[in-house]
Amino acid sequence: MSLSRVLDRIDADLPASLERLFAVLRLKSISADPAFKDDVRRAGEAFVAALAEMGFEASLRETPMHPVVVAHWTGAVENPDKHVLFYGHYDVQPVDPLNLWSADPFDPKIEERDGVKVITGRGSADDKGQVVTFLEAMRALLAEDGRLPVKVTVLLEGEEESGSPSLEPFLKANAAELSHDMALVCDTDMWARGRPAITTSLRGLVGEAVTISCADRDLHSGSFGGPAWNPIRLLAKILASLHDDTGRVTLPGFYDGVDETPADVVASWDALGRDAESFLRPVGLKTPAGEAGRSILEQIWARPTCEFNGIVGGYTADGFKTVLPAKASAKVSFRLVGHQDPAKIRAAFQARVREMLPPDATVEFHPHGGSPGFSMPFDSPWLASARDALTEEWGVEALLIGAGGSIPVGDAFARLLNMPTLFVGFGLGDDRIHSPNEKYDLESFHKGTRSWARILKKLA
Ligand code: BES
Ligand code: ZN
Repeated sequence: MSLSRVLDRIDADLPASLERLFAVLRLKSISADPAFKDDVRRAGEAFVAALAEMGFEASLRETPMHPVVVAHWTGAVENPDKHVLFYGHYDVQPVDPLNLWSADPFDPKIEERDGVKVITGRGSADDKGQVVTFLEAMRALLAEDGRLPVKVTVLLEGEEESGSPSLEPFLKANAAELSHDMALVCDTDMWARGRPAITTSLRGLVGEAVTISCADRDLHSGSFGGPAWNPIRLLAKILASLHDDTGRVTLPGFYDGVDETPADVVASWDALGRDAESFLRPVGLKTPAGEAGRSILEQIWARPTCEFNGIVGGYTADGFKTVLPAKASAKVSFRLVGHQDPAKIRAAFQARVREMLPPDATVEFHPHGGSPGFSMPFDSPWLASARDALTEEWGVEALLIGAGGSIPVGDAFARLLNMPTLFVGFGLGDDRIHSPNEKYDLESFHKGTRSWARILKKLA
């Protein structure tokens, strides 16, 4: 039976697969930092070359920011009536603070951490390691069968970690080329080590950078403090106004479109046993800070939030400078669920800032991202096939879970390409994505590759 030969080949080729993964992990594709623009392109080129070598018609397609990798399989296919679009991203998050990494983020290695073999480096889990599981599964299928189970188009984005500004125009301009039966995305987590999962909902994201300016220069805080407005004080007051004492966000209309999760669903989540203590302990915390009266999983999977991602102003270097700064800035983001409207929430936030400013202060806003939440129906036959394949590989039933993070493409595929999306990933909560010392379990990589081979076979 050919599936077992394919799986054997994945096992035998693991060292070579890791070498191919390491080659792309060495490329510094940090999309947010313009200094790495050429490195991002080189990573895109490396994926084009890898796909072309496998026999895909692959090319790098320009956008105003970072290029997109598109590759079509035009060779033999077991079931040519099915066509899937695989999506992933080849860009990564910035690595700072660099001093908190125990090794070079772009020099991947296999290492043992807490008795578990892991692949280290920026992008190992988010998302190059996950993307390569899919590519290596196709490589093994082609090597053993000489054909793919279904038609496949691969779309790899270079801007996902920067809010995907070019993605929508790209999808609109290439809708006919990219719209297929179903999208597969490998950029999410499992439930736990050894327990696979399909992510059926993700939160949306609206980000806004805000800069408040007062005097036309920095001032002596003794000579001017008191009469002159301090933009840090104004900013702090505005940010503090955004939550009430129960952890709810205070913007008018913020909860419009947020449905209460049915009690039986909340109960099924409670049964998974992720209590505040076990959730917070691994990151060095003890007491929950979110919305009062809601469980951890409900907070992460089904409730919207407002978070402050960064704040700067005045003198922050060594020593002390008694200055009254001219400006203060913050980056604020909102995670969205249900039918919350990103545009309305952005407007409500801007209105709050403006109404709290005295006439002497001015404000500038810079938008970041803007995507609604995503959820998929539970009765899709694709979901059932993928679930069976995962269960067979891992020997335990795959769970259907939500995700607190955002992958704007799910909503974009539905809206612009009229295509459903299936999110299957092999990340773990302790992968430290977006943090120093990111890793991907070797087992995630290996069994993830085997899982995709099984899923593709099932889909045929
Ligand atoms: N892969 C993550 C999202 C994710 C993380 C999903 C964990 C499920 C579990 C993705 O690359 C990511 O980090 N997205 C950003 C999106 C933003 C920059 C628009 C996020 O969620 O902050
Ligand atoms: Zn990702």
